[in-house]
Amino acid sequence: MSAADTETGQPAWRLLLTYVRPHRAALFAGAALSLVTGATGLMLPLVARELIDDLAHDRAITGALLAMSGLVVANAALGALGGYVLRRTAESVVLGARRTLSSYLLRLRVAAVDRTEPGDLMARITSDTTLLREVTTDSLVGLGTGGLTLLATLVMMGLVDPVLLGVTLAVVAGAGTVLGLIVPRINRASRQAQDAVGVMGAALERMLGALRTVKASGAEPREERTLHEAAEESWRQSVRAAKWSAAAGNTAGLAMQVAFITVLAVGGARVATGAIDIGTLVAFLLFVFYLMAPIQNVVAAVTQYQTGKAALARIQDALRLPAEPPARPAPLPAPGAEPASVAFRDVRFRYADDLPYIHHGVTFEVPARGMTAFVGPSGAGKTTVFSLVERFYDPVSGEITLDGRSLADWDLASLRAAIGYVEQDAPVLSGSLRDNLLLGNPGADDAAVAAVVKTTRLDSLVERLPDGLDTLVGHRGTKLSGGERQRVAIARALLRRPRLLLLDEATSQLDAVNEAALRDTVADVARTTTVLVVAHRLSTVTMADRIVVMDAGRVRAVGTHRTLVAEDPLYAELAATQFLAAGA
Ligand SMILES: Nc1ncnc2c1ncn2[C@@H]1O[C@H](COP(=O)(O)OP(=O)(O)OP(=O)(O)O)[C@@H](O)[C@H]1O
Ligand SMILES: [Mg+2]
Repeated sequence: MSAADTETGQPAWRLLLTYVRPHRAALFAGAALSLVTGATGLMLPLVARELIDDLAHDRAITGALLAMSGLVVANAALGALGGYVLRRTAESVVLGARRTLSSYLLRLRVAAVDRTEPGDLMARITSDTTLLREVTTDSLVGLGTGGLTLLATLVMMGLVDPVLLGVTLAVVAGAGTVLGLIVPRINRASRQAQDAVGVMGAALERMLGALRTVKASGAEPREERTLHEAAEESWRQSVRAAKWSAAAGNTAGLAMQVAFITVLAVGGARVATGAIDIGTLVAFLLFVFYLMAPIQNVVAAVTQYQTGKAALARIQDALRLPAEPPARPAPLPAPGAEPASVAFRDVRFRYADDLPYIHHGVTFEVPARGMTAFVGPSGAGKTTVFSLVERFYDPVSGEITLDGRSLADWDLASLRAAIGYVEQDAPVLSGSLRDNLLLGNPGADDAAVAAVVKTTRLDSLVERLPDGLDTLVGHRGTKLSGGERQRVAIARALLRRPRLLLLDEATSQLDAVNEAALRDTVADVARTTTVLVVAHRLSTVTMADRIVVMDAGRVRAVGTHRTLVAEDPLYAELAATQFLAAGA
């Protein structure tokens, strides 16, 4: 077994032990049961020798027969119990790894998620953790019990006849050398097979996430090819691993056959010369026979360990992605809480070190209460402003403050609890309408839910739906219209009673009637809350208390609609084209 390190510098077996440690009592119990099972097996040859002895000396064999039956039954019962306990422990190890990994993935930094494929991360939780099951039972226990049983068997063999033991050991050592060459190949193939499963998960996620677009683009054959290639790669590598595992298993099997024949030949000669009696040879041959299982265990342990090590490395890779610190959930603002003020001071930001700057020194101030609109051409960096306020990313330089306090000094959960955020593409999660509304405030009572449903004009939709608020909305809310999804997102944000409301083009998909109603709602909210809105409509900007005009990562002007139309050419152009077109 190679003790090669994973990339953390920690040997893989040590990592494995950290997952196993909480279950060590159960694991030891299971291992002890396996050992006792092995011991009952070991007694059998001795009793068999007695029986042959009894027969040779014309003694009654009832006692020996009874003892043998008892041993066989005990062997079966203890073996079954031990197997159950071990399997259960292995499942607990898998459970532990899945819990750790899923908690960690929820805390991943958005920047880390930008760089990974969600489908591959999913495969690490579902498929790679499953491989830990085998490695726990087969490897740890197999190595422990198999190793001990092996040792015990060898000792017994030595007691019966040291010469025959020497013959057996020579054969086993030869097989061990061959195994040493095979085993690292299993590890490499397993890692590549699991990586291919990850690629397949990523391709599946990409395709199912945009199935309508794939169909509309007629891209099924190409997507199919990608999926099949990943599946075939996993097959190829798994088959390679299977080939080497089979070679390892058969090397062990072959070694035992050779040992059996050699012992028979050498032992036969020793019986002929009278060095040992026939009972001793039979007992020794039975020991060789019993050696089979522990050797197979040890070999399976070593091969399984290679697969588990590959999976463990993939799990550890995921656990090394940058994550937010674990946070206790923070309470939502109390009713009537003071609205928040926001300020950007010379903020420079890029999404990654190898990407160009998006914000080149953004500066603005938003006082508590009132409505501030952000306008600017596409790609100006408006949505990025909101992502920075939510601390999905941290600026490279400059400072962002909420209530005059730097975001870096805020407890992340309290910061986000103060904010209601309606994303640009208004995401809705699968589940019921009610689940979606309560997502940001699970404790909201029915009256509060009814109130936001009314203000966001979802009430007629709720009445129309077969199960009302409990109607399932489908994956990403596909059973809702685009405008309905936006209103659900707004209702969800309002239900949090935020001190700061971030609306990203929240009214861009609404019809005139709904838009007018929502505008009134937002104006209402702005009286008690700070509202930042990325606006694409004239109606929104005309009622804003101030407008921040952004262009190419800078704030180029701040003012009201009236002053900006007169003073800022870009704004005047936007107002004349984009807003009017959208607002007409
Ligand atoms: N997660 C990301 N990783 C890398 N680059 C990004 C990411 N998100 C946005 N960008 C880039 O940052 C720039 C600004 O994006 P942003 O979403 O802030 O624009 P916007 O002003 O909201 O535009 P729009 O009006 O089209 O919504 C764009 O050029 C975009 O390509
Ligand atoms: Mg945007």
